This record gives sequence, C-alpha cells and structure tokens, in this order.
Amino acid sequence: MAIIYKEENKTFTLHTRKTTYQMKVASYGYLLHTYYGKKTEGDMSYLIQRRDRGFSGNPYEAESDRTFSLDTLPQEYSCQGNGDFRSVAFNVRNAQGVYGCDLRFRNYRIYQGKYELPGLPGVYGTEEELETLEITLADENVGVEVVLCYSVLEALDVITRAVRVKNTGAEVLTVTKAASAELDFVCGDYDVLHFHGRHGMEHVMERTPVFHGNQSFGSIRGASSHQHNPFLILAQQNTTEDKGECYGISFVYSGNFHGEVEKDQTAQTRMLMGIQDQMFAYDLAAGETFTAPEAALSCSSEGLSSLSQNFHRLIRYHICRGKFQKVRRPILINNWEATYFDFDGEKICNIARQASELGVEMLVLDDGWFGQRDGDVSGLGDWVVNEEKLGCTMGELSEKINQIGMKFGLWIEPEMISENSDLYRAHPDWAFAIPGKNPVRSRHQLVLDFSREEVVDYIYSSLEKVISHANISYLKMDMNRSITDVYTAVSGYQNHGKILYQFVLGVYRFLDKINTRFPDLFVEGCSGGGGRFDAGMLYYTPQIWCSDNTDAVERLAIQKGTSYGYPISAVGSHVSIVPNHQTGRVTSLKTRGVVAMAGSFGYELDLGVLSEEEKELVKQQIADYRKYWNLIQNGDYYRLEVAGKDTALEAWMFVAEDASEALVNVVTLEARCNGPVAYVKLRGLKEAGSYRLEGTHQVLSGSALMYGGLPVPHMNGEYQAWQVHLTEIGESAEAI
Ligand code: GLA
Repeated sequence: MAIIYKEENKTFTLHTRKTTYQMKVASYGYLLHTYYGKKTEGDMSYLIQRRDRGFSGNPYEAESDRTFSLDTLPQEYSCQGNGDFRSVAFNVRNAQGVYGCDLRFRNYRIYQGKYELPGLPGVYGTEEELETLEITLADENVGVEVVLCYSVLEALDVITRAVRVKNTGAEVLTVTKAASAELDFVCGDYDVLHFHGRHGMEHVMERTPVFHGNQSFGSIRGASSHQHNPFLILAQQNTTEDKGECYGISFVYSGNFHGEVEKDQTAQTRMLMGIQDQMFAYDLAAGETFTAPEAALSCSSEGLSSLSQNFHRLIRYHICRGKFQKVRRPILINNWEATYFDFDGEKICNIARQASELGVEMLVLDDGWFGQRDGDVSGLGDWVVNEEKLGCTMGELSEKINQIGMKFGLWIEPEMISENSDLYRAHPDWAFAIPGKNPVRSRHQLVLDFSREEVVDYIYSSLEKVISHANISYLKMDMNRSITDVYTAVSGYQNHGKILYQFVLGVYRFLDKINTRFPDLFVEGCSGGGGRFDAGMLYYTPQIWCSDNTDAVERLAIQKGTSYGYPISAVGSHVSIVPNHQTGRVTSLKTRGVVAMAGSFGYELDLGVLSEEEKELVKQQIADYRKYWNLIQNGDYYRLEVAGKDTALEAWMFVAEDASEALVNVVTLEARCNGPVAYVKLRGLKEAGSYRLEGTHQVLSGSALMYGGLPVPHMNGEYQAWQVHLTEIGESAEAI
C-alpha cells in the first residue's frame, strides 16, 4: 500500500520506493503539509513548531491561541482569505465580487488506479501501478468544494496531483487561481533551477538562490513558451548531479502556466505550480466543476541526475503513448533549411534520393506544400495540397518518395490562419480578434479560435483528407506565434477568462482525433522549435523539435537544459549545414553528428552539397545511430561534471539500464595552447564491471572510470567532439 491514512493522528502518508510525502488534518480541520523527502516513518508533524508571530492572524476558533496561524503553518493547499499572506494556491470570487475562502477538510477516498482528467493529458499506468488519494476540502459559506487528487507511482518515485473545483453554491463562482501543486517546507536553504530562453535558445538552465520574496516563472503567451518552461527544480543549496536533496515539478499542460517560489518571513519555502492566474477567471455556474491540469512531482536525495532520470522514465513510459514509445524513430531528412519555401516535387525527390543513398529513412516535407504558401505571409488555414507547386498530388509525391525507399512525413500548423487565405476570407471571425481593435500580427499570422469546436473540427477534417489520401508516416505539428487578442465570437466577453484554457483543450482534442484516426502516424510537436516543449504535449506527440537553432554549440546548452526535465527520446535534433543558418558558426560534421545524437537523430540540409568524404561520414553517423539508438533513447542519461575549472567542455553519457554498455560524449568549447588534461568522471557503471573502450584494447573497471575518471584525448581546435562506446566484457577479465 503506497497510501496510508492513520485515524489516530489523522495523517495521510504517501510512500514511494525512496520517498515519503505526508499531510495531516490539524486543528479546526486545516490540512497541513508535514513532510516531503527521503523515506521516513511516523507522524512528521513534530517538525511544525508553532510560535506566536505578530501580524500573523489566527482562525477565530483558535480563541486566545496566537500560535496557530495559517500565515506561518506549512499547508497542503493554501487559499486567500484565511490569514495566509504568502502567495497562495487558490482563490475564488463570488457573484458580489468578494474574493477568498477558507478551506477545511471534509473527507477522503483511497482507491487503486488513477483519477480522471477530462479532456486533459496525464500520467497513465495500470491499476496495480497506481494508487490514488482524493481529499475533499470545502468552504460551505462560500459554496466551494476543492478535491485534491494524488496518484502515486511508487516504483518511479513520482506523485501526481490535480485539483477539481466545484461550485456548491447557488450563484456563479469565479475561480481566479487554482494551482495544481503546492509544496511547503518548514526549513532549508534552497536554489531554484528554472529553464528560461527565447526563440532559438530554449530551456537554458539558471540556478539561483531562493530569496525572501516571490520568484515567479511563467507564460501568458497561450503556450508553455520558449521563455520559461513549466518544469522547476528546488534543490538544497549543496545539491550536485550526484548528491543532495532536490524536488522537481513538471506541469502536464501546454498553455499559460505559473510557477512560484517564495521564502517567507521565517525562512520557510513555498513552491507552487499551476495554470497562470493572469488572464484567467473561470466562471462556474451552480454545480459546475473546473479541473486544474496535472502536475507531476518527484524528489531525489541522490542529486539532480537521479531526479532527471525519474522524470525521464515517467515521460517515456507513463506519459508518451503509442507504438513509437519504445521503438527506434526513423532517421529523417527535413527540407526546411535546405529549401525553405522554394521547392517543387522534383527538388524534394532529389533531396530524398541523395539522403536515401546515405541511409536516411524518411523525408519530411516542411512548410509550403499547401494553399498559396510561397512565403510566410499567406496560406495558413488552407490545408489543400498545392499540386501546381508540387507538380503532382500528395499521394503521388508520397509514392515517389516511397519508391526511393523512404517514408514520407508532412509539416502542419493547424492553429494558425493567414489573413491572405481562403479560410480567413470565408470565416474572419474564426481568428482571435477583439472587436474594434486591430489584432497583433506575428509572423504575419493570426491565431484560430481553437476554443470553438467547429473550428477544430473543420481544420481536422481538411487535414484528415490530405493525410488519408497519401502515404504519410509522420506529422510535424507546429505553432508559430504567441496568442494575443483573446476573444471568442461565440460568447463574446462572457466566459472570457476561460478561453485560453479551452483553447488548449481544443488543441488536445485535435491531437486526440489525429492519434485515434491514424494510430500508425508518428506526430512530432513543434512551436518554432521548443516553444511548447512540455509534458502535456508529450502525451500526444512523443517527440518535439527542440529548437529552431541547429548550431551544434548552442544546442549543447539547449539540450542540456531540456534534459533536466525531459528524456532524450523526446528531443528532435538534426545535423544541418555550416556556416550554421542561425549563428554563422562553423563546426565539424563530426561534432554536429555527436550533438544531434543526444536526441532523435536526423538531418536538415541538402546532403547533395557535401563532399564525398563528408558523405562517408554521414553513412558512418547513421550506422552509429542505428547501433546506439536503444542506449540513447531508452538508456539512463547523465550530465557529466568535468574535473577542474580550466577545462572548457561539455560531457554527457548514456548507460544501458543493466549497465552493460555506455556511450560517452565530449565536446570541447575552447581551444587552449598547452592546456590541462580534462578528466570526466563517468556515472552509472558497475563498480566491479570491466569495460572495454571500443576501438582500443584498453579495459578499465567501472570503479576506475567513475572515481578516477576518463582522460579526454587532446583535440586540436575548438568545438571538437569525442564519442566513445564502452562495453562490459565480464567480471573475470583483467583490468589494466
Ligand atoms: C517553425 C519550425 C521550423 C519550420 C518553420 C516552417 O519555425 O520550428 O522547423 O518548420 O516553422 O515555417
């Protein structure tokens, strides 16, 4: 039993393999959070030390007891209105415009399996793998009931949370804030690791101390965004890759979000994650329910690598679905950086032919195949094949590509509309625009109102026609602007604060329809690269194009940042031409290959322009990827720490789950005259195992490689790559 309720001390304890999470129904029915961390036994509420603190008020029932204050007690789901002046998880506004409520414990339910999330993505598993606790809190005076849902994936050290809010009163009640997860800590000095960025430079990790006050990360762009990712880590300040306590929260949602970390007046820390409260006001009619999306939590007391691996396993096996979950993804070539909009069917076939000769397995036709789309100013919304441009039908083109020996994939951007399109001319009110105001344009396009069912259904059926009339194995689903001018022509300003949530549900419904109708189709997510890289999208699209930046050196930071919360299998990564189109940087083809192999591997250039020698290297890269894909996609990933401040390099490795083989990767960042030798300490090997370094006769013990380290050979010039495969040769072999 992962979930235990003890009536004698009114504690709810959630045990995973290595962690314990606990809450307690305290005086007056308040639900306090007593502990989350390394596995413990017993009632942890002794940790809560009550003191009389001035200006921290007390519930009325506490009478003369000035030590019971919601302003200082660690809570499970804090709300505005009962004396907690920190940033809270929950708030409502009644029909008279009065804010706040006072939530008290009502009842609970424990059952096998998972709670429901209507229309939303979430962690899945078997009845045996998951156990669920639902705790109902309520404020009868305000007329609100809040159900806190917890599912425990014991084996993975993961706890998921979601919240259902019901209006139990007679009038409209507006939910103005409803975080999905709250974590309160009574002590500790923490750092917050968050992942910020911009278009072309996503998920850059920044680690900053948690200070007194509120640190807030989020998106109001309609999608999870390039600028901040809905994944946060809170780590004890001494936590490293392999030591120390840390907590991660991954929001399983693809729209606006808000993550907060706050150190309060007595140095306690609160972390919140949930739907963004700006531009959000969810009106509930009497009896109606709102479901706040899921947040997945994990804790590790063994450092950041193990925390990341918990999320990697969770996403790979309990969020991503479909037949592509574990199998090798086809090595693809995408025409975008090779042609942009300037192509015809013949050019595409030539690219495919060249690539096929070198071993590439799929051609993806990117933007520009539909409507009047020869640039980014027109055509979005008109999902009709431009046969004149292709010189054939899509069915014929897919057949030609198949005859070349390749699979065929297609780019789409269903949520968008160009003003210069037949769809806009027919349905101008399908685009978000506020009456009397000119909408903000971005990349010359507007956003379709996917909160409306008929809009989603129309776009789905036009794309369904294209997909079902050609042999299409893969879709790249893009979204190339942030959302502004939110207004729905159906309900006008009524329900305005719901629209962005309903928009995201519309996107999920679209994807669900595609996945159901075409179960053999592999769908990759994309939003100008990693602008919607989140666990919610990964429920529908097991892979996401990680960044429009294909520069191998910048990709090191992007992919490293992504790896904290997301598995390698989720990362789309391609080798492109040099000088790189985004940065102008020149790196070797070898380095570009090694970096792209820290993801789902592909190419995005005209391979016909390469020299014969380079083509041979491409063949070798493809052979390597075929050999190592399982290790890369399904193995344990480690970010490696490099000994010595004088060595400028990035290193990472993949280790098979049984530690029988590993792939070590190093890229130098600076060229140094007469520089120091760099050593990387490997991770995850068997201490007593003997490993052969492929291509050499050298055999070293796992313990030597992990504790002594592996010297990195001298490489002349910056941005050089070294990749070495280690195979265990059995414990009897003599180590040298
Ligand atoms: C976005 C994508 C690119 C490409 C273009 C096409 O920027 O991230 O990979 O598909 O759109 O317009």
